[in-house]
Amino acid sequence: MHDVCLVGGHALHITHYAPMFITLEGPEGGGKSSQIRLLYDFLQAQGIAVRLTREPGGTSIGDEIRACVHNVQNTAMCPEAELLLYSASRAQLVWEVIRPSLAAGSVVLCDRYYDSTLAYQGYGRGLDLTALRQITHFATGGLKPDLTILLDIDVTVGLARRTNGGVEMNRLDLETVAFHQRVRQGYHQLAVQEPARWVIIDAGRPSEVVQADLRAIVVARFSSVPDA
Ligand code: TMP
Repeated sequence: MHDVCLVGGHALHITHYAPMFITLEGPEGGGKSSQIRLLYDFLQAQGIAVRLTREPGGTSIGDEIRACVHNVQNTAMCPEAELLLYSASRAQLVWEVIRPSLAAGSVVLCDRYYDSTLAYQGYGRGLDLTALRQITHFATGGLKPDLTILLDIDVTVGLARRTNGGVEMNRLDLETVAFHQRVRQGYHQLAVQEPARWVIIDAGRPSEVVQADLRAIVVARFSSVPDA
């Protein structure tokens, strides 16, 4: 696959690409869902086979789990049940969508993946990180993203954006600012532990600047991997 495109006036060269699993992560209000959609549209326009999906959800079983785990009425849900519901949704998505798409040669873009579990249920809720990694490994069969991009945003700015943005509120939105601070710090720790996999983007900047960075990072990653 050979192509050239322009982002922010700069030429981005897509010389080749291979199946790649890319995840977007971040605290609330960083604009992940709209940014990943724009990235998806951009890659499709370049003629790249790309599959866009999200967690929790992305399958009909996962969507049912999503409705349950995010239901604001479910105040009695314990952290362990929450963790297992997210993990069940993930297992279904990996086996039904992500692995088959990668095997078919597609790039897969996923809005959240297991790093959300480590950040929210681990650093946020305080569940044991070693146990979480084992459960996550079981749920995914050990499938790791090739690239994970953290859309990083100040917690109070992100929460305010979310409240004012007309988005559907979920059970996690009802958590304290301190919880969301732990989640954000958790993400930073995860990124430090695996610098080759993670890239951090400042999502507090204008949307088009964030999108230009995202595209440049992904295109650079395509150019650095051999053809499949
Ligand atoms: P979103 O679709 O708006 O990003 O909402 C997903 C919410 O679910 C968000 O608050 C983060 C939370 N979450 C977890 O707590 N653990 C997980 O493993 C995943 C995938 C999401």
